[in-house]
Amino acid sequence: MRNLLPLIGSTGSHPGGRSEMTCRYRCGDACFHPAPNTSANEYVGDVIAGAIGRRSVMRAAAAVTVTAAAGSTVVGAGATPAAAQPAEGVPAAFTGGKAARGLRFTPVAPNTADAVTVPEGYGQNVVIRWGEPILRGAPAFDPDRQTARAQAGQFGYNCDFLALLPLPGERGRQLLVANHEYTDEILMFKGYDPANPTREQAEIAWAAHGLGVVVVEEDRKSGRLTAVPRHHLNRRVTATTEFRVTGPAAGSNLLKTSADPTGKKVLGTLNNCAGGETPWGTTLHGEENFNQYFANASRPTDARYGIGTGATERKWERFDKRFDVAQEPNEVHRFGYIVELDPYDPTSTPRKRTALGRFKHEGATIRLTDDGRPVAYSGDDERFDYMYKFVGSKRMRHGNSRSAREHNLTLLDEGTLYVAKLTGDSPATEIDGTGKLPADGEFDGSGTWIPLATATAKGAVSHVEGMTAEEVYVFTRLAGDKVGATKMDRPEDIQPSPHTGKVYVALTNNTNRGVGSNAKADEANPRNANKHGHILELTERRNRADSTTFAWSLFLVAGDPKDPATYFAGYPKDKVSQISCPDNVAFDPHGNLWISTDGAQLGSHDGLFGVATKGDRRGELKQFLTVPKGAETCGPLVQDRRVLVAVQHPGEITGATVENPASSWPDGPGKMVRPAVVAVWRKDGCDIGV
Ligand code: FEO
Ligand code: CA
Ligand code: CA
Repeated sequence: MRNLLPLIGSTGSHPGGRSEMTCRYRCGDACFHPAPNTSANEYVGDVIAGAIGRRSVMRAAAAVTVTAAAGSTVVGAGATPAAAQPAEGVPAAFTGGKAARGLRFTPVAPNTADAVTVPEGYGQNVVIRWGEPILRGAPAFDPDRQTARAQAGQFGYNCDFLALLPLPGERGRQLLVANHEYTDEILMFKGYDPANPTREQAEIAWAAHGLGVVVVEEDRKSGRLTAVPRHHLNRRVTATTEFRVTGPAAGSNLLKTSADPTGKKVLGTLNNCAGGETPWGTTLHGEENFNQYFANASRPTDARYGIGTGATERKWERFDKRFDVAQEPNEVHRFGYIVELDPYDPTSTPRKRTALGRFKHEGATIRLTDDGRPVAYSGDDERFDYMYKFVGSKRMRHGNSRSAREHNLTLLDEGTLYVAKLTGDSPATEIDGTGKLPADGEFDGSGTWIPLATATAKGAVSHVEGMTAEEVYVFTRLAGDKVGATKMDRPEDIQPSPHTGKVYVALTNNTNRGVGSNAKADEANPRNANKHGHILELTERRNRADSTTFAWSLFLVAGDPKDPATYFAGYPKDKVSQISCPDNVAFDPHGNLWISTDGAQLGSHDGLFGVATKGDRRGELKQFLTVPKGAETCGPLVQDRRVLVAVQHPGEITGATVENPASSWPDGPGKMVRPAVVAVWRKDGCDIGV
């Protein structure tokens, strides 16, 4: 491999001592390491433009008041009824009239119940838990006798992204696709010894990672959803399933290993966080914090991805040398991609799409151009990393014929990969790092999509000086550094609105912003030590998905609404719910944005929120549910009659073990805490929030 850029790597140790459990297993202690972007790449150039006070008049709200009660329905661990939740944190009054259609529910109060808490009048059920058998021959869950073989036929651990796809011909049934992001060994195995994991434990963890496909059936009288075990479409993809590498880096020397001299065949997918559905009936899955599974790295390119110089937390390198970079240097180049799955064909080989670049892909979501080409948006979830989009060059074919499906499975292999550069329109002196709005009344500006490389059927071309196309696709972060992309506060889910085409980017947080020698606040990331995160709204030029320029503004600056540093699209702040650490986002059928959180700040467990994006209620944010202790809310899906969430890593609290759990959700005291998918519906059978 050619030497790339002179990076100063620093990985490996925890400067702050022993980390939190949640950090060790989830993201490999990302926050305990210096952010791996040490490039001298500039920050948002807030150089531009005299501030014009064009939007300094804030939107006034209708002032009629309606009481918003704090009543909530709680089904906790083992269905233990919980006490009514405190009213603290629920806005005393929402503005008069009705909330936006789809958001007409009584908001849930912030709380710390070990339960999924939903609004009054709503019911819920657990759709499927970690360990439930989904394939023929798989045994019932028995944590004392768990095996890798059993786990490979059971629902995986730590569900994240969720998709529900139609299942024509099977009335009342849909196809649920889930990511299984990572494993919490200490909550999976009794007496787990982190210093000495066994081979069987490692192999169970490999089988608990990956993807799950399971048919689900709805109860026509309610929104209740239950799994259909042993359906022929049910499938598990794990850390050892065969994948095909496609696109411009397939077969590259950078991807060849001793086990795969072709550079086109990889075993497994890891750390699948968020994802997306495609209009051609497949699902996309981001490989996010893949760095944490690889040991003994030493190259600058590895450092840029946060790959450690020592042993890994799970010590898989003891059981398969491919996880040891010193022994198998290219295996790590085969993770960090968007993978595409055809969930309707359980025998299909899933693909890794190198044309979308290699980084800590949170997920990928698709919008079509006016002439039917796919555009995929993807965030790189790391402090001070970038936002990307891929613009395909081939048009989608309609219909379900074999030739159409085969053609559509090539759409993400040809096109141009871009990275975002954002420029603020207010003077830099007005961005003081506190979150105070500049004189023009908005954090906003313009942006450019900078091309990195273009892949065609005949080969790929790099647009980055000093890097070959292969290098751009495998070391995409370094390409972003070279072209001066904008360093963001952890870009997570990116979701284009199917109603307006505007694109929403969740920026979870970045407590390092402006701290020490780290980059200071800029207009797109306006708070130093950003604890609560924000959501950016991006409008492509002429609303065309393939535009290379865009306008942007911050739609929401999260936190306690009483904190002057927060902003809710100009909506009155005494009439919204508190929110912290936006992570996954989704749209409901009415065009409202739903936001799930991962951070459990402000004295409450994480939750799911809905917010209007248009009309005079734009910015009115309401909390729909909260999740149990230690959990993150993932994979939100909002259909007409139900909301689906993945309750990820419940009970993941430092010090917790199987023997000494912090949570007993969902089955109650004495039962093992288990990540699970939950459906929420209205008890009167009507649509959500109308
Ligand atoms: Fe797996 Fe970026 O959350
Ligand atoms: Ca501005
Ligand atoms: Ca996420």
